[in-house]
Amino acid sequence: MRISRHKPEDCACIRPSEITAEATYLNRRDVLKAAVATGLITSASGSIQAANSQSLVTVKNPSFSVSDKPNAYDEITNYNNFYEFGTSKEDPAQHSGAFKPKPWSVKIGGECEVKGSFTLEDILKPHSLEERIYRFRCVEAWSMVIPWVGFPLKDLLGRFKPTSKAKYVAFKTIMRPSEMPGQRFHTLDWPYVEGLRMDEATHPLSLMAVGLYGKTLPNQNGAPLRLVVPWKYGFKNIKSIVEINFVEKQPPSSWNIANPDEYGFYSNVNPTVDHPRWSQARERRIGASAGLFNARQETLMFNGYEAQVASLYKDMDLRRNF
Ligand code: MTE
Repeated sequence: MRISRHKPEDCACIRPSEITAEATYLNRRDVLKAAVATGLITSASGSIQAANSQSLVTVKNPSFSVSDKPNAYDEITNYNNFYEFGTSKEDPAQHSGAFKPKPWSVKIGGECEVKGSFTLEDILKPHSLEERIYRFRCVEAWSMVIPWVGFPLKDLLGRFKPTSKAKYVAFKTIMRPSEMPGQRFHTLDWPYVEGLRMDEATHPLSLMAVGLYGKTLPNQNGAPLRLVVPWKYGFKNIKSIVEINFVEKQPPSSWNIANPDEYGFYSNVNPTVDHPRWSQARERRIGASAGLFNARQETLMFNGYEAQVASLYKDMDLRRNF
């Protein structure tokens, strides 16, 4: 396993010629499904993981979707950051086959009236699933467009009746080194943790995602339950969540613990505030849509969601609170 840090050079490792178009992928997926069904394939790889995903009943939500062309399923599921499975972009698809996202439960606690352990089925039951096409911007200066399936995080949090002391929400990823080979190395302080301020968590754009492209999440994308906060850099989007706590004080976040000078708590996409080692002014859209010359495009303030979220930060110095 290669131990590396977040750096933009990592992003240069995927070429348009390596990317499978969606139509080709769908064909391949049908072949894979048939092969899995007939027992021809038993080992797990990224694509087979994806073939094992189940279809979900979803309603498209155009008012929370962008019109940018989504990335192909193959791109979204084979170019990932999920350090529990290794540090390279290919590791999560290749090394997450043994991970079991079922059965699953999430522990709820802290400053709320309703606490306890809830199964995934309990969590999902009252919510109808929406498809929302969101821009995704990684801190490493690449981006994608992803058709997520999920429901507003606000609706889930409201069910636990947070008290007036709940100023932040803290999230934790599962700790399971037997199935997550990356957790056997100290690349980060395990388990992975993240946090949001309460008004960020309850913003209508914050999504509790359970699928993509109309199917349950593949392991490498954070099965069975992950956060998607589209105006923040990708690392705020914690995967495979097993614990949610309402807290009074700003909770720790894994990348901030690992390197506080480079990764702040807020991590809002901001083209005017550079990462100490590289500019954040431009981004490279992964995949065929990036074009022959791999053109970079300008990064938009709050990843293009400025009209919706700027008011959350109106009195804050965003250079200090990066
Ligand atoms: N969540 C956990 N538990 N572990 C991780 O290593 N990586 C983060 C975030 N969530 C990460 C995680 C980072 S750095 C990014 S960019 C996004 O997940 C990547 O999500 P994706 O692979 O679905 O695109």
